Amino acid sequence: MQNVIEVTKDLYYLGGNDRRLALFESAFPVPRGVSYNSYLLTDEKTVLFDTVDSAVSELFLENLRYALNGRKLDYLIVHHMEPDHSASFFRVIETYPEVLVITNQKVAMMLKNYFPFSGKNIRLVKEGDSLNVGKRNLSFVFAPMVHWPEVMMSYIAEDGILFSADAFGTFGALGGTIFADELPFERDFLDDARRYYFNIVGKYGVQVQAVLKKAAGLPIRTICPLHGPVWREQEGIAWYLGKYDVWSKYLPEERGAVVFYASVYGHTQNAAEILGSELAKRGVPVKLYDVSVTHMSELLSEAFRYSHLVFASTTYNNGIFISMENFLADLKAHNFRGRKYAVLENGSWSPQAGALIEKTVSEWKDMQKLGEKVTVLSSVKEETRTEIEALAAAIAEDYKN
Ligand code: FEO
Repeated sequence: MQNVIEVTKDLYYLGGNDRRLALFESAFPVPRGVSYNSYLLTDEKTVLFDTVDSAVSELFLENLRYALNGRKLDYLIVHHMEPDHSASFFRVIETYPEVLVITNQKVAMMLKNYFPFSGKNIRLVKEGDSLNVGKRNLSFVFAPMVHWPEVMMSYIAEDGILFSADAFGTFGALGGTIFADELPFERDFLDDARRYYFNIVGKYGVQVQAVLKKAAGLPIRTICPLHGPVWREQEGIAWYLGKYDVWSKYLPEERGAVVFYASVYGHTQNAAEILGSELAKRGVPVKLYDVSVTHMSELLSEAFRYSHLVFASTTYNNGIFISMENFLADLKAHNFRGRKYAVLENGSWSPQAGALIEKTVSEWKDMQKLGEKVTVLSSVKEETRTEIEALAAAIAEDYKN
């Protein structure tokens, strides 16, 4: 049965939720599910904005049929070709063979690669082109690498509506309302939104900044993303744009310390926890994560969130412990930069991890090391505790300045 929701006058939400998916993109846990959003505008012409993942295609097609209410489908705008939004493209083409596909050259190439699509009934647009659909005009804003190279957005000037593709989306299924202003978004969605942003497009901060500059020139009253809730309230939109601005500039969202540790038999964990206690004693907000236990997507998000980081690892095969090495590689892959950091290592016969962590992290942009590296020889002793206290003092002094 259809579940179509009115967004604004003549605009309908046709999307659906997947709460059974274990790993989004086969990589990111989504314990709260994920939504796949699609929208239909019913002006003098009918316009479908993107399709959905195959997981919800049956509901989506039923929603589309219902929302069209017997009208033909005139335009299908394809903003992004990743299959979580394009998997139902061919089903739409087969069901509505007269539809004119509106998209750009890069999408057109990918459509032929993904589907037995003839390439007929397609109109290619360029940045700034517009399309009259009756009382409204759509214009197209290109957003390469947010999150694939072909991505574009659509804007309806008459209503101030931005169809933002993956940008401003989030993990987390929708239920009951699709509107951010009717949700405790900061309480229930912000952590997922941050994790979504940094894992999906975090690498492309420069490109996100370029899109934010374009968006700044548009009066935006509603944002319709491809995942997560619709934004239609000015204060909320400004707040969320502010988050994207901080995130895409690689700035810390919060001042505070995170101790990331990799421990095999618990001694490195012991050192990390003593450091955590010493930081808290000095007034530094602190969190600890065992990088062998917490999912990489959450570690990445938390690293981007905070200002001061500690990397603590035991030595393993004369190197950095596996899970810490993988974490550091993931941070590098996402262009991680601009943080204060400290290092703690452990080793039972030849501690190596600390020097290797320092070498790795010092190659990233705008990283500043604090204090002296702490070396634990198998287990924490009184003299090690003294070194940990000195490291905590160095971090706290910088935090307070
Ligand atoms: Fe939600 Fe890049 O796809």
